Amino acid sequence: MSDSSFFVIAVDGPAGTGKSTVTKRLAKALQLVHVDTGALYRAVAFLCFEAGFDLKFTPTQESAITEIAKMARIAFKNVPDRNPSSRVYVNDRDITALIRTPEMSLMASRVSAIPHVRAALLDLQRRLGKSQPSILEGRDIGTVIFPEATLKFFLTASLEERAKRRLAELEAQGGDVPTFEELKQQIADRDHSDSHRDTAPLKKAVDAIEIDTSHLNLEQVVAQMLDQIRQRTERE
Ligand code: DC
Repeated sequence: MSDSSFFVIAVDGPAGTGKSTVTKRLAKALQLVHVDTGALYRAVAFLCFEAGFDLKFTPTQESAITEIAKMARIAFKNVPDRNPSSRVYVNDRDITALIRTPEMSLMASRVSAIPHVRAALLDLQRRLGKSQPSILEGRDIGTVIFPEATLKFFLTASLEERAKRRLAELEAQGGDVPTFEELKQQIADRDHSDSHRDTAPLKKAVDAIEIDTSHLNLEQVVAQMLDQIRQRTERE
């Protein structure tokens, strides 16, 4: 590695495996910049909803969505007195809460399957990761964005468990909450489209450490990951 300050931890895995919570914890413990790359796709999804797109796109619409992704000014800002502290902005608008709905999850999954949309968001992800020691969470961090990452994790959990966690999260947010079965179906659909798209599908990097979080609590997952990170950094 030519740049000795490069330090990137890649955390990939399907929805509901606890990626966000654990990466935020690790970022805090290790003083790393936390980059939620799913929020970038969610920001594009938000702009698509605003522009009136449905979940199925024609090739012309895919081109229009690519332009939306290229033009979008997406930024993360830290607001220490707000919870969560990292806010997501698109074109100077705080969309943090607006992009966490089940509809936005599905739209994000659909727009993320458009190869040109992925290309439009690639540089930003690399710039964010390289600017400071970072931890990035997503689907293709270890395989495409940072194949040279310092350390890679791939989190998994059973569909049942992931749906349970998402339901609890949505209930805590308030508002309309789908039933458990609906949520399970939505997550299964998203798993399928994220894993079967042609460009940068969700898959474990060969050198990623896999952790099945189904029967582990947050502290146990964080402890396992910290242990691996310490082992790796002590060796170097
Ligand atoms: O991590 P999340 O649930 O917020 O991600 C929303 C969608 O964005 C997910 O269904 C697939 C897509 N995504 C992606 O394709 N690549 C990433 N690195 C992150 C998210």
